[in-house]
Amino acid sequence: MAEPMLRLDDVRLVYNRGRVDEVHALRGVELSLQPGEFVTVVGSNGAGKSSAVQVISGGARPSSGRVRLNGVDVTNWPDYRRAGLVARVFDDPRIGSAPELSIEDNLALALDRGRRRTLRFALSGARRRLLRERVARLGLGLEDRLHDRVGLLSAGQRQSLTMIMAGLTAPRVLLLDEHLAALDPATAQRVLALTAELVTEMGCTTVMVTHNMDHALRMGDRLLVMSRGRIIHDIPHAGKSGLTVAGVVDLITGSGDVVSDRSLLADLETQEAPK
Ligand SMILES: Nc1ncnc2c1ncn2[C@@H]1O[C@H](COP(=O)(O)OP(=O)(O)OP(=O)(O)O)[C@@H](O)[C@H]1O
Ligand SMILES: [Mg+2]
Repeated sequence: MAEPMLRLDDVRLVYNRGRVDEVHALRGVELSLQPGEFVTVVGSNGAGKSSAVQVISGGARPSSGRVRLNGVDVTNWPDYRRAGLVARVFDDPRIGSAPELSIEDNLALALDRGRRRTLRFALSGARRRLLRERVARLGLGLEDRLHDRVGLLSAGQRQSLTMIMAGLTAPRVLLLDEHLAALDPATAQRVLALTAELVTEMGCTTVMVTHNMDHALRMGDRLLVMSRGRIIHDIPHAGKSGLTVAGVVDLITGSGDVVSDRSLLADLETQEAPK
């Protein structure tokens, strides 16, 4: 089997250790993702989803355990050192782009982030055309506003731009933490379609955290359910397994016991036999 693109070994994360407000946000997370694999992650508020995203991106250093990207131990690498490998899109559209800079400058920065230093500052006509073409794909008319400040954009426009920026860094791992949460349903649908398109095009390993059970089932190859700092269910091809939206909610709110894929699927077969 190929080297996993992402591997978490017994990752633990404690906030405020030794204080009254000590929190064990991650309590032994094990995860191995192959190149190009797309997982969705669900779980109650406080389950540890964003904490997991943080330790993968380098925003937080685990209290113990190892994080490996493409076989390299990056546990102690700060986030900026992982920037060429990992791209992250947050729930807040205001994070991820610089409001005072123009759309074009934001895109140019993203393009540079994914490249070697020697290629920097080559603001050629070809590069301008590439950026323009990418923005035009959004169908939002932003290609005619490349010199507008990003702070002037709506939440949906800005999150769409952040997705395009993430794509320009050509990440090996793409982390999406409730990236549709602030968007109206139609815009969320459009950004979701863009997400699927970019992921397919880049072939990157993708982790998408969501509270939308339908998206969790429909998107990707594998569904992870987190509870109290652990992955308690790991279900391949959840959308095709007979699992329903209500079934996922039951898994989230049910017992915190770890079950294997096999026992879960056996349960599903008995409980939700095809009609
Ligand atoms: N910077 C921090 N300092 C202290 N505690 C934190 C910090 N970040 C998260 N926590 C705590 O860690 C636990 C896990 O939080 P996390 O944000 O990972 O949950 P989540 O699954 O992303 O939840 P949500 O669905 O609400 O986004 C929570 O109890 C939270 O209060
Ligand atoms: Mg979160």
